[in-house]
Amino acid sequence: MSRPNRMERPYDIVLFGATGFVGALTAEYLAAHAPDGLRWALAGRSPERLESLRERLAGIGKAAEVGVLAADVSDPASLRELAGHTRVLATTVGPYLTYGEELVAACADAGTDYLDLSGEPEFVDLMYVRHDARARETGARLVHAAGFDSVPHDLGAYFTVAQLPEGVPLTVDGFVHADAMFSGGTFASALNQFSRGPRMLAAARDRRRHEPRLLGRRATAPSGAPRYAKEVDAWALPLPTIDPQVVVRSARALERYGPDFRYRHYAAVRRLPFAVGGVAAVGAVFAAAQVPPARRWLSGRLRPGDGPSAERRAKSSFSVRFVGEGGGQRVFTEVAGGDPGYDETAKMFAESALSLAFDDLPATAGQVTTAVAMGDALIDRLRKAGITFRVAATR
Ligand SMILES: NC(=O)c1ccc[n+]([C@@H]2O[C@H](COP(=O)([O-])OP(=O)(O)OC[C@H]3O[C@@H](n4cnc5c(N)ncnc54)[C@H](OP(=O)(O)O)[C@@H]3O)[C@@H](O)[C@H]2O)c1
Repeated sequence: MSRPNRMERPYDIVLFGATGFVGALTAEYLAAHAPDGLRWALAGRSPERLESLRERLAGIGKAAEVGVLAADVSDPASLRELAGHTRVLATTVGPYLTYGEELVAACADAGTDYLDLSGEPEFVDLMYVRHDARARETGARLVHAAGFDSVPHDLGAYFTVAQLPEGVPLTVDGFVHADAMFSGGTFASALNQFSRGPRMLAAARDRRRHEPRLLGRRATAPSGAPRYAKEVDAWALPLPTIDPQVVVRSARALERYGPDFRYRHYAAVRRLPFAVGGVAAVGAVFAAAQVPPARRWLSGRLRPGDGPSAERRAKSSFSVRFVGEGGGQRVFTEVAGGDPGYDETAKMFAESALSLAFDDLPATAGQVTTAVAMGDALIDRLRKAGITFRVAATR
């Protein structure tokens, strides 16, 4: 790997999509928490909107020192220029399947660390097949899903494994509970995903063909079945998000997960009628997403840039409880925080960017998960920023 000398670049962190819903929250977080000497810039397609964001940030911390860069995903040269100007490029410009690839390619070529909020498995698999090898050559770390998808689940499983004995088969079950609303951007990404089932499966197959085989170890994420989980006193519904895939990728990369690791991912619902209602609602949106006119109607319900108000977000929260077992031990752990989709996502995303830029991390390159790229350093940062990682009990 030949890592270009990135210290000579003008910026440590560039935030692309800064004028969007999560982008602006991330900019506010960075403005309030920027370490002394952070060289950072807001990037987006509208210089006017970027300037007015910079003015809005002016009262917060050291925001006056933030730069402004114009770039548009329809202009690949502008993306290459962005990638060449910074050590870490954090992008909230989604849906990533629609807008994301050129920037991943630019970062892989320039040896620039790349961070996104993609919960889109097809996009992540395509980027692995097309850009992982080049990123390994240049030393770029390509980190997807650095928000609520999938940081609490990936780092929570990593934290749970660390409480269990080494060198033995381990199982971890994650139970997610979230009370929150979503934004226009997230809704658009979810609808896009729901309409692409066969292409998503094809991308996953292609990835498996390219991935090196795991020798002498196993890491799997079977989907499990709906059940009453007495260990967490809730109904557990299998949750087919990108999270279990990310957890398994961390388990494949890190020996600490043991010779035979299994992860199952569930939504935890206290009352059965809510469980049935939730499955029905997701099923209805999934069915509608298959029919173009219905999909268009749905996507008009929540516009890009819209999202829950500060008051609504202040009432939102999440917890992910984990039950880990192995070597005769059982451990209960929890990762918890406030509004998962936006306030805490902005925090996780900004802290990941700061971690890639400044922490003393293991040497990695190519497509890597948050646990593999940042692991303990990111847990440490998130704890200091108010997200709980705790061991609830060991038996
Ligand atoms: N992983 C997670 O847990 C998580 C949580 C929340 C969101 N997300 C994902 O994050 C993404 C952003 O969500 P959001 O709610 O912030 O969406 P949003 O408000 O619609 O923001 C999208 C951003 O993309 C920019 N953009 C669109 N087209 C562009 C182009 N041609 N060139 C440059 N920039 C362009 C927009 O710029 P303008 O401001 O100029 O329109 C805006 O800044 C979505 O994909 C969503 O699914 C993930």
